[in-house]
Amino acid sequence: MKKVYIRTVGCQMNVLDSEMVIADLKRHGYVVVDTPQEADCVLYNTCSVREHAEEKVYSALGTIRQDKENHPEKTIGVMGCMAQKDQDLIFQKAPHVDLIVGTGQLGEIPRLIRETRDSAEREQQKAVSLGRRDGTVAEVSGSFQSYDPLRDPEMRPSPYQAFVRIMIGCDKFCTYCVVPSTRGPEQSRPPSQILSEVHVLADQGVREVCLLGQTVNSYKHTENGQLHRLSDLICAINDVEGIERIRFVTSYPRDMTDDLLQAVRDIPKAVRYLHVPLQHGCDEQLRLMKRGYTVAEYREMMARINETIPGCSVSSDFIVGFCGETEESHQLSMDSIREHRFKNSFIFKYSERPGTKAADLMPDDIPEDVKKRRNNEMLALQNQVSEEDNAEFIGQRVSVLVEGLSKTAEKQAARNDEGGGSGLARQLMGRSMCDRIVVFDGNPRLAGSTAEIEIHDCTGTTLIGSIVTRQVQHGSSELLPIIG
Ligand code: 5AD
Ligand code: SF4
Repeated sequence: MKKVYIRTVGCQMNVLDSEMVIADLKRHGYVVVDTPQEADCVLYNTCSVREHAEEKVYSALGTIRQDKENHPEKTIGVMGCMAQKDQDLIFQKAPHVDLIVGTGQLGEIPRLIRETRDSAEREQQKAVSLGRRDGTVAEVSGSFQSYDPLRDPEMRPSPYQAFVRIMIGCDKFCTYCVVPSTRGPEQSRPPSQILSEVHVLADQGVREVCLLGQTVNSYKHTENGQLHRLSDLICAINDVEGIERIRFVTSYPRDMTDDLLQAVRDIPKAVRYLHVPLQHGCDEQLRLMKRGYTVAEYREMMARINETIPGCSVSSDFIVGFCGETEESHQLSMDSIREHRFKNSFIFKYSERPGTKAADLMPDDIPEDVKKRRNNEMLALQNQVSEEDNAEFIGQRVSVLVEGLSKTAEKQAARNDEGGGSGLARQLMGRSMCDRIVVFDGNPRLAGSTAEIEIHDCTGTTLIGSIVTRQVQHGSSELLPIIG
């Protein structure tokens, strides 16, 4: 029995990629182990969006060097975005690495591990896709392969939730972002393939699917002469028995079309939550970022969302300290949080990424301490907004898909070494239909079912409540009155 250890950093795409790679390796006789020390093969699934994420991996590679020297037969692999972006540079910086496998070549991993292991000289192996300018669109697209149908239920954080990739790549080319080069051209998967994958997941017990794409609402695919958009896909998945909720991330503001908003409003299983990053509240910054919309256009989109889907939650991403950001433009981003009252925002300090337009053309001129202060200011404001809006739920009832033990209960269970599966009431967590995290006391066996929770307290990130009744039937669309 060969043993594999995998460490994943980065976004949901990477979590899903790791799930697929592990499923593939298990089919080749591997078992997963918890530490790199006990593994025959150590894989790092990497992220390049910010420099910090890359530093973490280079540091982990430094730590494992001694282990590799003591056990030269151990295979060390770097996969994902950093592998695609840095390629041979990784071999130069970390010569003990055996494999470099880009995001579009992950299906090659079992073969590459075998080839390194079996070659007399333990030759280093590399499989990466073409750069965006290294061929025709068709050639570059073809070099990013997807091998999604492989699934491994055990690698999922929850047995009731699963990611489903509906598209790969990105063609938006925001000036700060490496994703168009690390994940290649935008390509939508055929709806029939996605649908059969959802059926398999439902049979495995999955209750909620989260559809993934860098710009998930740009999804379009023509099959049998018919154009399928994201709204059509949600409609088709709504009919899959066993699936109770359908989410999707991340949306691109310009592609937030009315048919999609109407689908979120009308399709019973569609979660009333949209993640549509604004990135900045100042037109000049949006222009330099090449986001493709103005503050006024984003405002118009928000108005359409609020008119079409009452009670819909919207969350955003922001970048602080991008090239030339003045104090005034920073204040405009702050104003946009006050105006749109996002459910939550992910706030990032600008990190210059080699190979991007911003790195080539615009100086990274905001000092680190200013970035940090602006980041903290925005976080504090967003927390205040989130807490105020969460307080509106106090006294109301929300329908929650129970995911399992809350983080606090999980830590407690780990301390007491209990496993957490017993019938005693513990603190559980789940999400409302508008993506609010809800904690409440209940029997851990409720995981995977829908419960009605009355809210009596909150923090900026969490609603706190207690169980009122429980829905028994899975897959029923006769949901309880949904507030959240
Ligand atoms: N620096 C900082 N944040 C970035 N993001 C993308 N590229 C960068 C960068 N170079 C942020 C954006 C995006 C999120 C996933 O990461 O806000 O929406
Ligand atoms: Fe990056 Fe922009 Fe594409 Fe999002 S839309 S992945 S920020 S290039």
